[in-house]
Amino acid sequence: MSVTSFNGGQHSSARPKVTTQTIHDKKQRREPITCLTAYDYATSRLVDEAGIDMILVGDSLAQVVLGYDNTLPVTMEEMLHHTRAVRRAVKSALVIADMPFGTYQGNVKEGVHNAVRFVKESGAEAVKLEGGAKRVDLIRRVLDCEIPVMGHIGLTPQSLHKMGGYKVQGKDLAGVEQLVKDAIALDEAGVFSIVLEGVPREVAAMITHEVSAPTIGIGAGPDCDGQVLVFHDILSLTFAPKAKFVRRYADAASLISNAVTQFKTDVETGSYPSDEESYHLPRETKSELEALLRRKQLKAYSV
Ligand code: KIV
Repeated sequence: MSVTSFNGGQHSSARPKVTTQTIHDKKQRREPITCLTAYDYATSRLVDEAGIDMILVGDSLAQVVLGYDNTLPVTMEEMLHHTRAVRRAVKSALVIADMPFGTYQGNVKEGVHNAVRFVKESGAEAVKLEGGAKRVDLIRRVLDCEIPVMGHIGLTPQSLHKMGGYKVQGKDLAGVEQLVKDAIALDEAGVFSIVLEGVPREVAAMITHEVSAPTIGIGAGPDCDGQVLVFHDILSLTFAPKAKFVRRYADAASLISNAVTQFKTDVETGSYPSDEESYHLPRETKSELEALLRRKQLKAYSV
């Protein structure tokens, strides 16, 4: 295995560490903020080295890596496991862990406990949780523990059953009003940024103008302070039909399929491994071994 050639490679980051202050300052300077999800060492390292500001270990892990139908089944232990791998890879980007369904909705004390676990046990530098005004008590308590919080409103996948499916939110006046109220409540509670998912462009623009926290859009149009996408979506490594807002930057699925098919062919036709891809005995050991085999009148050894 050539693990050493990857994990062992030099990984020095020339850029300074991104903090929540960096993200705040970018909004002030109107510089677009970049965020991608990632879930493992190799891809996080590449995302970090490409200069992305924030890496979200999203609970989309459930679907894109673990193969579940939605985000609801992913556990605290699974999220911690993947956040640790990401943390080991990342030198510069801000690492945010997504609090999974059921770990904060029912009980503030439990929510605080789980937020602390992310920082203590996985090295996350912030947590994200879904919901607006109703999460304010929890957010204040998590902030009291010195843990930065990213909010997430609009199409919140953990509310799948309540929403009755993945639907764009804030399409009527009552919906718009609710979203604006939620964004202001999160902002006043002190979140360092707010994910706006699946909301009309006009609403996202209004909220972005209204709140001091940077807004990070996904399916929320170009007027947010930043954008987040799911890593596997931009590489065509997801199997569901593409959402309207996803832009695919590479076809990694074809790349992987072709490489795997070629490997299979090479093994089956005997062209892999070649002599150059094999280890050899040192010349001296080989001569000694041949002499020994001759002495013992064993079958001649020759390669
Ligand atoms: O889990 C996730 O990937 C997310 C982003 C889509 C914001 O929450």
